[in-house]
Amino acid sequence: MPKLKINDQDIEVPAGFTVLQACQEAGVEVPVFCYHDRLKIAGNCRMCLVELKKAPKPIASCAFQATDGMEILTNSPMAQKARKGTLEFLLINHPLDCPICDQGGECDLQDETMVYGFDRGRFAENKRAVKEKYMGPLVKTEMTRCIHCTRCVRFITDVAGVEELGATGRGEGMEITTYVEKALTSELSGNIIDLCPVGALTSKPYAFKARSWELSKTESIDVLDAVGSNIRVDTFGQEVMRILPRLHEDVNEEWLGDKSRFAYDGLLNQRLDQPYVRKDGKLTPASWEEALAVVAQKIKTTNPKKIAALAGDLTDVESMIVLKDIFEHLGTPHLDCRQDGSTFDFKHRTSYLFNTSFAGIESADLCLIIGTNPRWEAPLVNARLRKRALQGGFKLANIGAPQEWTMTVEELGEHPGLIKDVLSGKHPFAQTLKAAKNPMIILGAAVLTREDGQSILKTVHALCEQFGITRSDWNGFNILHRAASRVGGLDIRFVPGPNGMGTTDILAGCADGSIEVLYLLGADELSPESLEKPFVIYQGHHGDVGAHAADVILPGAAYTEKSGTYVNMEGRVQRTAQALFPPNLAREDWKILRALADQLGFELPYMTLDQVRQRMVEKNNLFFAQDTLTPAPWSAFGVEGKVSDTPFTYPVTNYYMTDPISRASATMAKCTRDILYGEPQMKEAAHG
Ligand code: SF4
Ligand code: SF4
Ligand code: FES
Repeated sequence: MPKLKINDQDIEVPAGFTVLQACQEAGVEVPVFCYHDRLKIAGNCRMCLVELKKAPKPIASCAFQATDGMEILTNSPMAQKARKGTLEFLLINHPLDCPICDQGGECDLQDETMVYGFDRGRFAENKRAVKEKYMGPLVKTEMTRCIHCTRCVRFITDVAGVEELGATGRGEGMEITTYVEKALTSELSGNIIDLCPVGALTSKPYAFKARSWELSKTESIDVLDAVGSNIRVDTFGQEVMRILPRLHEDVNEEWLGDKSRFAYDGLLNQRLDQPYVRKDGKLTPASWEEALAVVAQKIKTTNPKKIAALAGDLTDVESMIVLKDIFEHLGTPHLDCRQDGSTFDFKHRTSYLFNTSFAGIESADLCLIIGTNPRWEAPLVNARLRKRALQGGFKLANIGAPQEWTMTVEELGEHPGLIKDVLSGKHPFAQTLKAAKNPMIILGAAVLTREDGQSILKTVHALCEQFGITRSDWNGFNILHRAASRVGGLDIRFVPGPNGMGTTDILAGCADGSIEVLYLLGADELSPESLEKPFVIYQGHHGDVGAHAADVILPGAAYTEKSGTYVNMEGRVQRTAQALFPPNLAREDWKILRALADQLGFELPYMTLDQVRQRMVEKNNLFFAQDTLTPAPWSAFGVEGKVSDTPFTYPVTNYYMTDPISRASATMAKCTRDILYGEPQMKEAAHG
């Protein structure tokens, strides 16, 4: 462990630390542009120059290894002069754009110029100008502002794993480009906006919308997939202006998927902002009193055994528990939070969790992926797998259709029967699996929607036991969920009660008339035909499939408009925070259900959100602690049976449109057009 002096302060740092890391360890701030602790070191901006005693010239601290006996001065006249020089060179070609630059107010270059900048330039030459580059509908470029730090290139190449950005030319002729005018295809591309230390890469949907200091900032979590990424929602008045990632080392590190970052404009479109009641076949605006009275009347006059409820993918636990309590009171056992028809075994928590945890991926040395496309179903899990793959000693294999991976993955085939072959030792991969120390399996949630889902689960369970994938000190069995509400719903048992029907039977009951009233709590991933016969009550925030089929619409709140509890696929309890109010007459979902219970003539034992949360803890004490992981004990699950020959298919065919919010987003529609179908609208290429 090298011992060195930083500004006369003695410090000992781990071997391999750079001088910059040693300075950070000592609590000394050194300005940087190109350095980023999650990217490879480039050492090309020279902003981090510090004085090394006895060295003839300043050193780039980010690229210089800390060694024993060094004496570093970070604020000496030599270090200060060096930084001023670096900045002066950077500003030779930098435009005077601050007043019209979206980075203004949160720009590293602006901040450093305030400290090290000179109040006039010594260069009278013309500034260079660089043509804008088209990078797709999400990233806006102003390449004249680029300082060539290459953070964006390193992120896209190393973290996102797609080689779509690079530098051409040298010296003054250097340009950061996509080589050919083409949209970035990475689902993590928005992160380069955060990484760019200047205003060369900014958010296209947010362009010229607001200044950073005008925005109200609310710390929340994302619900557009089941990762539970920590986010910050920036609002101006009653509008979400942008969504940014928040640091959570164990969940999303500091990255965010593009859908979670950019689909927020969907919160303004297709909103249900007042109750509706269908009259003469037409949905007609109604008051809350009228809509709730119609619902209560219908429920009261229907045999409870002919009423069913389905909860959607974005539903918070609070509203699910209130609806469950209402249904229990009515004596209605037909309810399900698995609107995709999956057959998760809710009695055994380990059977539906991502048990290894995201951070735990970094301790694994083998990963067998079955029936899932993590790049589209959970981009940040994919990023974590890639991170682990880059560290070396990590073998990846896939059972499912070949995909565009961002790392090296051995394709074993598409048929579920292969799992049995590995289990019996017939397949050569069995030897690789046997040799692994900490192997893990990622099973896509969609596998459990197959008819043979439980048999596949049973085979995977046997594989786990036979190959040491689960041991007392390691649980390598993982389900990769797509729906933010799924684990929470299973945790509070929003599932069929005694003699109750699950999603598949409920929908069949809707078709044959045995279910007469269907309560959809934000459930939209259903076929419209299945909703034709019953009386449909839709409670949710967007005019999507459920609302179109509804006889009564009760307008609820989106995740940015309420404080709601969600459990991510690892089993981590987290909460959204209210960043703005629901539009017009829309209300928080648990309150709507509480009011419905009053209309139905019975009192629920809670009046406030805190009391609802106490009720959740009563149902399952896992809800007591937020943001912690409680390992679920290993148990028997799955059902012995025949595994069919049907190959695995992936449930997501368009990453940009998977839920009512992203389907209502114009930005996501542009991504679908330009990235997925490759029809870039070149007219708006540079400035659109
Ligand atoms: Fe100003 Fe920063 Fe924009 Fe450059 S990148 S114009 S310094 S705000
Ligand atoms: Fe750095 Fe931004 Fe230029 Fe990329 S575009 S090299 S992140 S300044
Ligand atoms: Fe060290 Fe850029 S931060 S050279």
